[in-house]
Amino acid sequence: MTEEGKMTAHAHMNLGVLIGAACLAVLGAGAASSAEPAQTIVGSPHDLRNLATLGKDADLCAFCHIPKDGDDASPSWNRAAPAGPFEGYSSRNLDGHSGALSGVSAGCLSCHDGATPLDALKDPANIVLVNPGQTMAAAFPDSMAILGRDLGNHHPASISYGAAGAGGASRLNPPSVSGSRVYVVSTSDGAEIPLYGAAPGTVECASCHDPHDNARGKFLRTANTNSALCVACHDM
Ligand code: HEC
Ligand code: HEC
Ligand code: HEC
Ligand code: HEC
Repeated sequence: MTEEGKMTAHAHMNLGVLIGAACLAVLGAGAASSAEPAQTIVGSPHDLRNLATLGKDADLCAFCHIPKDGDDASPSWNRAAPAGPFEGYSSRNLDGHSGALSGVSAGCLSCHDGATPLDALKDPANIVLVNPGQTMAAAFPDSMAILGRDLGNHHPASISYGAAGAGGASRLNPPSVSGSRVYVVSTSDGAEIPLYGAAPGTVECASCHDPHDNARGKFLRTANTNSALCVACHDM
């Protein structure tokens, strides 16, 4: 076990200050999910329908995606970019960080910063909140899930997988590539841990978390028992 292996995801990583510029366009394709999002989101912490005036079925996806008739496979992103700036993303060990948060991770923070209104949407017609302009911090004042803007206590996101592999501070398992999909495979349960963009790809929030499926708690792609999630990527 290396020194970093003993750290938890919430251990302070001694990161410096970096500005996160968010550019939210259409999302990159991640790993194909085995379960239907519509079934697994219902009743989970990402089922936010009761915050909307109508709380209709379509609102289940519309907090995050623009509904597209007849195209459930590649929905567009519906959220406006979070204002930022995000801090805590540089350290002497962090070879692979570009200095910006990319689309998928910025998308998570457009709620999880606690400051961006939940109805700051690209297509606002889709959702009318019971309390217009409400932020996650206002809707869930005691939530542990509000990360704020200093991300230094969480595992870094929007970091290149390749720069680290090519002589970075960490030893990483090699990624698999299948068409446009780039991923590592968890040896504990075979789950795919997606990387984003062209190979070798980047680690984003959604590499470790599947926002559609909370079966394992904390929306994790694989349970982190005995650091199983960590060792999917880190070779220790
Ligand atoms: C809390 C935010 C959120 C909600 C709600 C949400 N999604 Fe997503 N969705 C995402 C994010 C983030 C991604 C991209 C990351 C990824 O690869 O999973 C994504 C990607 C997808 C993809 C691309 C394929 C994939 O698995 O990567 C599909 C299809 C999808 N969502 C369908 C849905 C449907 C259908 C609903 C409603 C039943 C829904 N989503 C609700 C956040 C959300
Ligand atoms: C539309 C707003 C929104 C977006 C976008 C969103 N979340 Fe959430 N998330 C929430 C809310 C609200 C909660 C529940 C807070 C509570 O109940 O304390 C939550 C809860 C969570 C939790 C805690 C679940 C648990 O079991 O306690 C995790 C982990 C999480 N989100 C990760 C993510 C990740 C990663 C992304 C991006 C891929 C994302 N979220 C995108 C609103 C959002
Ligand atoms: C390398 C994997 C990894 C990445 C990348 C990652 N997380 Fe996490 N995250 C975890 C793990 C593991 C936990 C559970 C830790 C625990 O149970 O104490 C967690 C917990 C959380 C929680 C729940 C906090 C709580 O106590 O309820 C939220 C919210 C969250 N992550 C959001 C994010 C967001 C947003 C990003 C991107 C900016 C992100 N995560 C990136 C692995 C990751
Ligand atoms: C999806 C792949 C992936 C997963 C899963 C993952 N990591 Fe990482 N981790 C990385 C990459 C890539 C880096 C950047 C390495 C570099 O630049 O040298 C990194 C860096 C780190 C660092 C150094 C951060 C710094 O400040 O320099 C620590 C500590 C770490 N990971 C711990 C963990 C732990 C603990 C887990 C399990 C909760 C985990 N990692 C899961 C890919 C991953």
